[in-house]
Amino acid sequence: MKKILLLGSGELGKELVIAAKRMGLYVVACDSYAGAPAMQVADEAEVFNMLDGEALERVAARHRPDYVVPEIEAIRTEKLYDLEQQGMHVVPSARAVNYTMNRKAIRELAARELGLRTANYRYVTTFEGLKQAASEVGFPCVVKPLMSSSGKGQSVVREAAELEKAWDYAMRGSRGDLKEMIVEEFIRFDSEITLLTVTQEGGRPTLFCPPVGHVQKSGDFRESFQPAPIGEDFLREAQMMAEKVTRALGGAGIWGVEFFLVSGKGVYFSELSPRPHDTGMVTLAGTQNLNEFELHLRAFMGWPIPGIRQDRAGACAALLASCAEEKVPEYRGIENILGVANADLRLFGKPVARPNRRMGVAFCYGPLADGVEPLREEVKALAEKVEIG
Ligand SMILES: Nc1ncnc2c1ncn2[C@@H]1O[C@H](COP(=O)(O)OP(=O)(O)OP(=O)(O)O)[C@@H](O)[C@H]1O
Ligand SMILES: [Mg+2]
Repeated sequence: MKKILLLGSGELGKELVIAAKRMGLYVVACDSYAGAPAMQVADEAEVFNMLDGEALERVAARHRPDYVVPEIEAIRTEKLYDLEQQGMHVVPSARAVNYTMNRKAIRELAARELGLRTANYRYVTTFEGLKQAASEVGFPCVVKPLMSSSGKGQSVVREAAELEKAWDYAMRGSRGDLKEMIVEEFIRFDSEITLLTVTQEGGRPTLFCPPVGHVQKSGDFRESFQPAPIGEDFLREAQMMAEKVTRALGGAGIWGVEFFLVSGKGVYFSELSPRPHDTGMVTLAGTQNLNEFELHLRAFMGWPIPGIRQDRAGACAALLASCAEEKVPEYRGIENILGVANADLRLFGKPVARPNRRMGVAFCYGPLADGVEPLREEVKALAEKVEIG
């Protein structure tokens, strides 16, 4: 039985484990705390700090997995090159995981080497540098640590007086020892999408899921929907960019490639992650013949994917904890969703609720011909009827 070492055991990991278990694979789920969502469905669990390279090496040596599958960014990713050398299959590749966890590496590749359109940007390491860079890209601008995810340390700066606060916030939100940030031009996009892109082994073609539209707040997704109603030109441009950047990084698996769409200007590449994407949880609503986790698994296992078929339209809303402090979660009102014929939900089973922590997702789905708009309204209204915390 092939063995998977899953690095990160959140809600995305949990669905990947479920897909893997359905195919008879053996999974060791890792995270920094016990009882994490993916651990609840895996064969074994390891609790350790994945930023600790030696600990990561020890765990890999103990389990000798066939596949090492990162689910999050906060991993000592340099170590993955060693594991790859030792014959473990890092998904999608050690190179891809290392590039995508650092905004500078991926931006240089996308904007300079591949010539993709991105927001105008500068890198800074000092406060003086930040002031200079902001005056060059103009206000408003977005300040982000080079290494961070889920919007941590990220802020929109409207005027020079706000720069100091943005600097402190980015310093605090920066992961690891790298104290550098990127300052980006603020793009007034009409909409943003994740293009779930599947790269395959053995010369098989790259596949694209129908675009997932989403709405973010405080760096975290609040709703997503599929298929996002976008123009054919935008879609083709995004697909071309996604194909280029995933090919340059290498390896087989699913990627969440994020774009901003600006009418009259075109598509801006924002960033990408070499794994299932949180906005792609909408595929759990049965929008496609294979959800994003099944696609990821098939792609890195080298199994055939006969095609991605869109079966229905879907919308998804994040269920956030509403408690004022950390506590064991209680769930109220889930019957309001379960009682609706075209709705469903997933609860992640996180052992602890914290203010605004994502604890589950709600879905609504319907015929493709009716589009996503009514579903977005419906799922948001249903999500309001659930209280967690
Ligand atoms: N230059 C920009 N102009 C306008 N909006 C932006 C810009 N950069 C980021 N945003 C907004 O902030 C969101 C999060 O940004 P980004 O994806 O870079 O951060 P992240 O921390 O990597 O988030 P995640 O890990 O959740 O994808 C974007 O989806 C977008 O809504
Ligand atoms: Mg993002």
